[in-house]
Amino acid sequence: MWITLIAMPTCAYAMQSLEVLHWWTSSGEQQSAAVLKERLADRNLLWVDYPVRGGGGDSAMAVLKARVIDRSPPGAAQIIGPDIQHWAQLGFLSPLHHAQLDDTSLFYPVVNELIRVQGQTVAIPLSIHRINWMWLNPSVFERLDIPLPTTWSQLESSAPVLRAAGIIPLAHGNEPWQNATLFEIVLLSQAGASFYRQYFIDRDESALTDPSVVAAFEQLRTLKTLMDPHINQREWQQASRLVADGEAAVQIMGDWVKGEFSAWGLVPGEDYLCLPVPGTNEQHLYSIDTFVMFLDEPNAVPMPTFIDTLLSPDLQRDFSLAKGTIPARKDLPVTAFDDCSRASHHVFGQASQSGMLAPSIAHSMAMSPESEDAVFEIVHRFFNDERMTPELAAIQLAQTLRALK
Ligand code: BGC
Repeated sequence: MWITLIAMPTCAYAMQSLEVLHWWTSSGEQQSAAVLKERLADRNLLWVDYPVRGGGGDSAMAVLKARVIDRSPPGAAQIIGPDIQHWAQLGFLSPLHHAQLDDTSLFYPVVNELIRVQGQTVAIPLSIHRINWMWLNPSVFERLDIPLPTTWSQLESSAPVLRAAGIIPLAHGNEPWQNATLFEIVLLSQAGASFYRQYFIDRDESALTDPSVVAAFEQLRTLKTLMDPHINQREWQQASRLVADGEAAVQIMGDWVKGEFSAWGLVPGEDYLCLPVPGTNEQHLYSIDTFVMFLDEPNAVPMPTFIDTLLSPDLQRDFSLAKGTIPARKDLPVTAFDDCSRASHHVFGQASQSGMLAPSIAHSMAMSPESEDAVFEIVHRFFNDERMTPELAAIQLAQTLRALK
């Protein structure tokens, strides 16, 4: 909802406000949201913060549903992936009218698909994450004279040396969404983007019963042996901290980690390195940051100001620099970005043409929330219950994907 704040005596004109629900609560995420807040304030729109803690946004979506059911939606909210379509079809989202937003040539095809429902634009795209990254502490590898891993077996074989030096080989947090993120990355690495889409999206019978899924579960279990015993309740940014402090060597996670490192003042290429997850150099597992609006009055100031600001080239650049992403607008240069983001930009462009794009399941890019929950449940159970075999996990996941097709 939006309200007009009564002008202070010294104020020449009234400032309007817009409540924004989102899940950007880590240091890097807050710093990125601050870029938005500042630019909106410059245009006389006050961002009223409604943050809901929890990486990946599952808690935020639960709170948003409760608020909408309670008939008190925020003015704007971070909703990502095909869930945007569901909310729009239920009639909750404001149609967005804006010349640039309606210009499909400004965005990549996958972005256009997400933000429009039957030709009507209903979401504003901000930036694009690449998820298939390893984040490494270079000084750890240098000091112990270990080669930077480019294969799973290299990562595994460096573990004894790292452990002997008191370093955790792989930093991780045992949360359903973090486990699902790791699983989808491993599946992509083992079987490639085309298989990934056949499996998770098309749900072809041949893919559902393919042995590479068993192999991915096996690899996930192997990766667990590289972790420390304190993974429970660890948030992703706490895992990143371990890498930053040299207590862990590697974290496998989306490039919001880079936003976190930037907020902590770390320098890419010196304090940390990024490498694509083994076998995924040319693939881009993506998640796209988007906002929707719940306003009744399309011409009221908050809507055009919010859209204009979010789409402005400077904002798209500066937000992405803080967030670790690349801009959602494809017409913007990335010369100001570091090597990791430039690589993400290059690979995203190439992958859009070559079929190497993979929408993240763990980050709501390709499934209904119900299907996503079911995938999370099986992967999380497998990750935590050593008695569950990779074969059984693959059978259960196939059954679930088949049933929810
Ligand atoms: C979102 C990112 C966010 C990350 C961790 C992803 O689903 O796209 O914007 O930083 O979750 O919370």
